[in-house]
Amino acid sequence: MKGIRMQGGIPLQGKVRIQGSKNAALPILAATLLTNEVSYIQNCPRIADVHRFVHLLRELGCLVHWQEKGIRVQPGENEELSCERAEARRMQGEAITGMRSSLCLLGALLGRCGCVTMEHPGGCVIGERPINLHIKALQQMGVEFREEEGLLSAQVKEEKMHGAEITLEFPSVGATENVLLAAVKADGDTRILGAAREPEVTALCEFLMACGAQIEGIGGSELLVHGDRPLHGTRYTVPSDRIVAGTYLFACIGCGGSVLLTEAPWEQMEAVTLVAEKMGAQCITSEEGLFVQCSKRPQAIPYLRTGSYPGFPTDLQSVAMAVLTKADGSSCIEENIFENRFRIAEPLKDMGAEIVLKDGRHAMITGVEHLRGNRMEACELRGGAALVLAGLAAEGESFVTGQHFIERGYENICRDLRELGARIISV
Ligand code: EPZ
Repeated sequence: MKGIRMQGGIPLQGKVRIQGSKNAALPILAATLLTNEVSYIQNCPRIADVHRFVHLLRELGCLVHWQEKGIRVQPGENEELSCERAEARRMQGEAITGMRSSLCLLGALLGRCGCVTMEHPGGCVIGERPINLHIKALQQMGVEFREEEGLLSAQVKEEKMHGAEITLEFPSVGATENVLLAAVKADGDTRILGAAREPEVTALCEFLMACGAQIEGIGGSELLVHGDRPLHGTRYTVPSDRIVAGTYLFACIGCGGSVLLTEAPWEQMEAVTLVAEKMGAQCITSEEGLFVQCSKRPQAIPYLRTGSYPGFPTDLQSVAMAVLTKADGSSCIEENIFENRFRIAEPLKDMGAEIVLKDGRHAMITGVEHLRGNRMEACELRGGAALVLAGLAAEGESFVTGQHFIERGYENICRDLRELGARIISV
């Protein structure tokens, strides 16, 4: 059976280059639809979710080519991607329902042609993933929504969307991105209050500005978009992936050793390196990247809570849990973003970890000296990566199935960890 086999208990040593950011690349690829001109998106990670997104863009009539340094996107002439075509191409199938990030096509297609029909991008194992904030915000900009047989249809009521003052009840990354993608093409100004401040939102704003859009307050929780500026193609380099960098940082803490994560976006990882240092790691930053060293058993973190940026990222909660199971002392993790993100507790307990879950939001972990290698099954992206880290920190051999989940976000986790000295192979 396909999976990842590894030998635990080996300290990591070496250096690895951090790939481009999945969660920055995907909304930027959607944003290329906002102009007919060619755009070059460099440093795009070669991961399953990007390949699926490229497939969606081609389905919509775009010419998309992988090049040595990135992706060339030519949306084609306007009539190519008219409303009828977008309507006609009811975006359905696994690429929509199985990939939440396809949701950013909603804002991009509304911005480009004023209409879109897509299968409801459903929930996933980490949560129900509702889209009420997206719908409410876009309705304020003059978009009408209809739901029929599981399909979501959105149509701009007037000639164009109009700017609005939008307050997001929660700093949703996706909702902020969808509003940005629509607002740059709307008539007038759109102010977003309570916007997400994630670096991936900032990268999208930078890309849109490079295309000619005018956005103020970038990086903050209040964004002002001056709509309807003529947009043109551009060349943009996707920033490195802070979650991939954080994954390998925690791998080093779990196994011990010293690693250099070149091109790691350490300036976006303050909350992460702070936790790493509390666990006993030494983090040194330079223009080369992030150097991490951990020579002793990690210290427990009495209280670790996830939060919107610049808080500790929910996407690193599982990998932090995997490492804390071997820490010296007791830790408590509070997950504040998704309602079902402790699924790896069970497989970790099968390896000897001591974890008690409380009210769906809290995990109490009592550190143990040793984890036993085991056979485990990944059932989602970041939990899968966490199980790999647990296997590397355990004694003996481990085997993780469900590799396709991990491949959604990591170009080649085995190759990367082998470069850091891990004994790991995809079979
Ligand atoms: C993005 O998801 C990321 N995905 C996620 O990364 C990340 O965990 C998340 O932001 C939080 O940082 C991409 O960028 C492709 P949200 P998104 O809207 O946009 C609730 C990974 O592993 N909510 O900020 O879907 C929602 O249910 C993935 O790379 C509503 O209630 O996240 C969740 O509880 C996993 N209504 C919370 O907000 C809405 O309309 C955060 O969601 C929208 C969201």
